[in-house]
Amino acid sequence: MPRETPLIVESELRLDPVRSVEGLDWSQVFGSAGPVEVEIGIGKGRFLLAAAESRPDVRMLGVEWSNQYLRIAESRAVRLSLENVRFIRVDARELVQRGIPDDSVDCYYVFYPDPWPKKRHNKRRFFQPGTVDGLARTLVAGGCVHVATDHEDYWSVIEPLMDGRAEFSRLPEFGGERFPLPVDEPLTNFEDKYRVEGRNRFRGSWRLNPG
Ligand SMILES: C[S@@+](CC[C@H](N)C(=O)[O-])C[C@H]1O[C@@H](n2cnc3c(N)ncnc32)[C@H](O)[C@@H]1O
Repeated sequence: MPRETPLIVESELRLDPVRSVEGLDWSQVFGSAGPVEVEIGIGKGRFLLAAAESRPDVRMLGVEWSNQYLRIAESRAVRLSLENVRFIRVDARELVQRGIPDDSVDCYYVFYPDPWPKKRHNKRRFFQPGTVDGLARTLVAGGCVHVATDHEDYWSVIEPLMDGRAEFSRLPEFGGERFPLPVDEPLTNFEDKYRVEGRNRFRGSWRLNPG
């Protein structure tokens, strides 16, 4: 008789991607209650882990395609004994569009998403209308999307895409009141690296309007 596959796989903090894209149940994922935040493309997890450590009551999911990065982030989470983080290796666009339940996420963080600069690769970008539909569907009213990139061409797509959506209002400044870490410090490894290199930095935050 076929047995149901477990939701947690590979490491004790990793979700099964196939089951997750079919639809997540946050209480099953975390075994606890509380707000949920999702970081897309966590790299080695610098931001996710610092944010999770600073607010143990907030449940955080890290989405990352690179297994190598995920393993580093997971082993750091275990070393820090964090109970409020989980990880998943999946295409973030698919997860946001199909796997994440309606009205269930307090906040998304998308820092230095791959820019896919070649025209024929643009369709691989995270920010495109279908994914923004997914963000709007899955955020709770008042929930936020925080974005940063060094890539001017990609920013020239992201900014009008988000500003042009009636469901979202732009916050006057990146971060806002409930942001978990000081926004003047480098938030991620790429932000740190790009600051040293003197690259551009474009950042913005948007809030989902009520109903
Ligand atoms: C430029 S890195 C930025 C990493 C981290 N956010 C930072 O700022 O240091 C982009 C990350 O997004 C991940 N990524 C790219 N496309 C993805 C996708 N469709 N789904 C999940 N992760 C993705 C890459 O593997 C990579 O780790």
